[in-house]
Amino acid sequence: MEEKKYILAIESSCDETSVAVVSLENDLVSNVVASQILSHKRFGGVVPEVASRHHVEQIISCMEEAMTAASVTVADLEAVAVTEGPGLVGALLIGISAAKAFAWANDLPLIPVNHMAGHIYAASYVKPLEFPLMALLVSGGHTELVYMPEHGEYKIIGETRDDAAGEAYDKVGRVLGLDYPSGKEIDELAHQGNDTFNFPRAMIKEDNLDFSFSGLKSAFINTVHNAEQKNEILDRLDLAASFQASVVEVLKKKTLDACTEYPVKQLVVAGGVAANKGLRQGLTDAFAKSFPDVELIIPPLNLCGDNAGMIGAAALVEYKKNNLAGWDLNGNPGLSL
Ligand code: KG4
Ligand code: ZN
Repeated sequence: MEEKKYILAIESSCDETSVAVVSLENDLVSNVVASQILSHKRFGGVVPEVASRHHVEQIISCMEEAMTAASVTVADLEAVAVTEGPGLVGALLIGISAAKAFAWANDLPLIPVNHMAGHIYAASYVKPLEFPLMALLVSGGHTELVYMPEHGEYKIIGETRDDAAGEAYDKVGRVLGLDYPSGKEIDELAHQGNDTFNFPRAMIKEDNLDFSFSGLKSAFINTVHNAEQKNEILDRLDLAASFQASVVEVLKKKTLDACTEYPVKQLVVAGGVAANKGLRQGLTDAFAKSFPDVELIIPPLNLCGDNAGMIGAAALVEYKKNNLAGWDLNGNPGLSL
């Protein structure tokens, strides 16, 4: 009987060093994530140089730990997968260099993976993906609606014209004096407050699938600064609730519009902001009402943030298409789907 084979997947595009072992049947066997958040917190955002240095320090031990946790040896590996982009170029290069060296030394093929495709394929650990599929990708760097007619085929049908949703969360969080990244904490505060500030819902009435969050961010910041100048104290819970209500309403409306225009079998919500409780609940309710036949897949919290497990799942699709990289593979910070 043939032995089971695995892919070793590596992710280092931003501030998590992560290595996973995934079987060719798409079982996630191990998924080691070393977060650098504590090092970046005091700067209020990810410092690229600091991120690269941490990746260098962590990558080898993460590779060893992922293999040990999965009880696999090099002989059990079929290929090595790595995030090619988008992301911070210095950070990407650490994962890519480690992947190339390991693959070359062990005579294994190298699979290049798009980080955003990875976020979508995280959902494949919950349920097999069925097409056509719509993905709402919401992270610190991206806000996109992606239509997928087939495995590995991506069509961006809507995107943000300025800030990403996660970026807006992090920027208003800073004004509230919260630590970076502040999405999770704002989400928690929002559940204890009410939508009293009536912040703008940008582009909600426009006949397209694009987003804009910079106006909302400015409205929030101006409200807080104006109150400070008048020595007024605003309710932080209501501020958070009002901000979140605006983000969720816009994301929900555009996602429903996208599924009206492009009928699909499944909706995948992916990226760090997919962890948002308000968004998860809002989409669940809206789809149960408007599209009861569309299956909603929102990965568990540990698969929403950056992790190599998702890179391994997306790599399987590329591997089946024989999309392999040469030894000249480079980091591609602006890689699009
Ligand atoms: O996908 P991700 O881990 O990294 C990128 O590729 O950007 O997303 C990180 C983003 C951050 O902006 C963070 O504030 C946001 O996801 N985030 C949240 C929540 N948890 C993380 N935003 C809103 N609500 C949350 N519960
Ligand atoms: Zn990400």
